[in-house]
Amino acid sequence: MIPPNSLHQLPKKNIFRKGDVFVLFGELFGRGYANGLVREARKAGMQIIGITVGRRDETNKLRPLTDDELASAESGLGGKIINVPLMAGFDLDAPDGEPTPTELLGTMTLKTWMEDRLDWTHIEKCRQVGVRRFQNSLGAVMSALDGMIGEGRNVFFAHTMAGGIPRAKVFLAIANRVYKGRGERFLSSQALVASDLGKLILQNFDEVSANTFQHLIEGSGSIRRRVEGSGGQVRYTAYGYHGTAILIGGSYQWQTYTNYTQGHAKIKLERIAQTAWADGIKATVYNCPEIRTNSSDIFSGVELPLIPLLHALRKEGGGPWAEAQWQACRDLLADGSSLEDVLQMVADFHDSEVSRGLRDFAAWPMPNSLALADLMLPTSDAIVQMHKDRSALITDLLSGLVIEATGPLIFFESSAPKSHVLWLNHDIVARQLNQLHS
Ligand SMILES: NC(=O)c1ccc[n+]([C@@H]2O[C@H](COP(=O)([O-])OP(=O)(O)OC[C@H]3O[C@@H](n4cnc5c(N)ncnc54)[C@H](O)[C@@H]3O)[C@@H](O)[C@H]2O)c1
Repeated sequence: MIPPNSLHQLPKKNIFRKGDVFVLFGELFGRGYANGLVREARKAGMQIIGITVGRRDETNKLRPLTDDELASAESGLGGKIINVPLMAGFDLDAPDGEPTPTELLGTMTLKTWMEDRLDWTHIEKCRQVGVRRFQNSLGAVMSALDGMIGEGRNVFFAHTMAGGIPRAKVFLAIANRVYKGRGERFLSSQALVASDLGKLILQNFDEVSANTFQHLIEGSGSIRRRVEGSGGQVRYTAYGYHGTAILIGGSYQWQTYTNYTQGHAKIKLERIAQTAWADGIKATVYNCPEIRTNSSDIFSGVELPLIPLLHALRKEGGGPWAEAQWQACRDLLADGSSLEDVLQMVADFHDSEVSRGLRDFAAWPMPNSLALADLMLPTSDAIVQMHKDRSALITDLLSGLVIEATGPLIFFESSAPKSHVLWLNHDIVARQLNQLHS
C-alpha cells in the first residue's frame, strides 16, 4: 500500500521572497535533513534565523552558546541565532534539590531495570519543570524574534527537533542491544516499552519530538496574528517519519524500519499538526524517507530502504544524471563487489517473510524481533563491508540526494500545502531530483 496522504505532484507555487523570514527550530548539523530547506530559503533570499538548544556545563546546567560557539553556529547556518537555550525534554530537570530522572536511572543496572520502578508523581513534577523551562525560554526567543520580523513579511517556521535519549549508562547499553543486538545480545523493544524505564523514555521522546511543535505553534501565536494582520502568511513544517513507499519488486510499496520506538512521538506530532490545521493554521508534517544522519546512525539497518532509490531514479524519468548516480555508487564499492549484488541483497531482505510481516501500516510502529535482527543487521554489515571505505558509503551519497530533493519539495509545497501530513516517498523524491538535474 501507499500512504493515502502521499505527495505525487512536484509543487511549483512559491509565496516566499527576498526579505521574508525563515526560522529553523532546531540546530543545523552537517548531514541533517534541515540543510535542504535552509538551502531553498537562502536561494529565495529569505532572512534566516536559528535557535540553539544550548550546552550543558560540568554540573549539567544549561547555558547559552559561548561567543565562539555562536559565531561558528551562525556561519554554518548563514543567519542569526537567538542565543537562548531551547533544549527540550526533562531528563535533566527536577524541582530544586530533588533528583532528576537521569539521576534516578543511575541506580538501575542491566540486571535490575526490567523490575525497577519509578516514582511517577516525582517524574511528573520533573516533566512540569522541564516544560516550564522550555516555555519560558521560548517566550524569550519569541520576543526577540518578534523584533526581527518587519511589517508585511511572510514567515516559515521549520521544526526539526527530535531526540530525548537520556544520558544514563544503563539506557545506552540497552539501546545498543535493542537497535544493534543479535543472537544472545538481542533485546526486545517490547520489554523496553513495558518497563518503567521505557515508559519514561517514551514520555521524553514525546516532549522533544512532538510537544515542541505544539509549543512552537502556541508560542508564536502573537507573531502569527501580527503577520497575518498585516497581510503576510505563516507556515509551520515538521519532519515526520512513518515508513516510506519504495520500489520493491518493481512497484512502490510502503515499508518501515523496525523498531522505531520514537514512532509514538511521531504519531503525536501528526496529531498536533491535525489540530492546528483544524484551527486554520497551516502546519504540515512531512514524513520523510530513511537516511543516515547524526540522529539516525543509532538505528543500524535504517539505511537499507534507501538503496532502492537508485531504481526509482531510473523509473521516474532518469537520464544521464541518474546513470551518473549509479556510476558514482559503483565507484564506492571495493573490487569484486557489484552494485547489482548490493541491490539484490536489499531486494532479498525486503522479500523475506520477516520483512513482509512488517509491512502492516495500521500496526505501526511494530516491535523488533530476533528474526528481524538476525536478518537485517548482518545484511547491513555485509553491505558496508563491500565498500572501499566505510566512511564513504552508497547510503551517504543517497542521503545527500534525499536531502537535496526534500528541500524544494517541502519548501514549495508549503506555499499551498494540501494536508497536515504528507508522505514524501521515493517516487516524488526521484522525480524531484531528475527534474533538478535535467
Ligand atoms: N534521518 C532519518 O532517517 C529521518 C527520517 C524521517 C524524519 N526524520 C526527522 O528529521 C528531523 C531532523 O533529523 P535528522 O535525522 O536530520 O538529524 P539531525 O541530528 O540533523 O537533527 C536532529 C535535530 O533535533 C534537535 N534536537 C536533538 N535533541 C534535542 C533536544 N533535546 N531538544 C531540542 N532539540 C533537539 C537538534 O538540534 C537537531 O535540530 C527529525 O525530526 C527526524 O526525526 C529523520
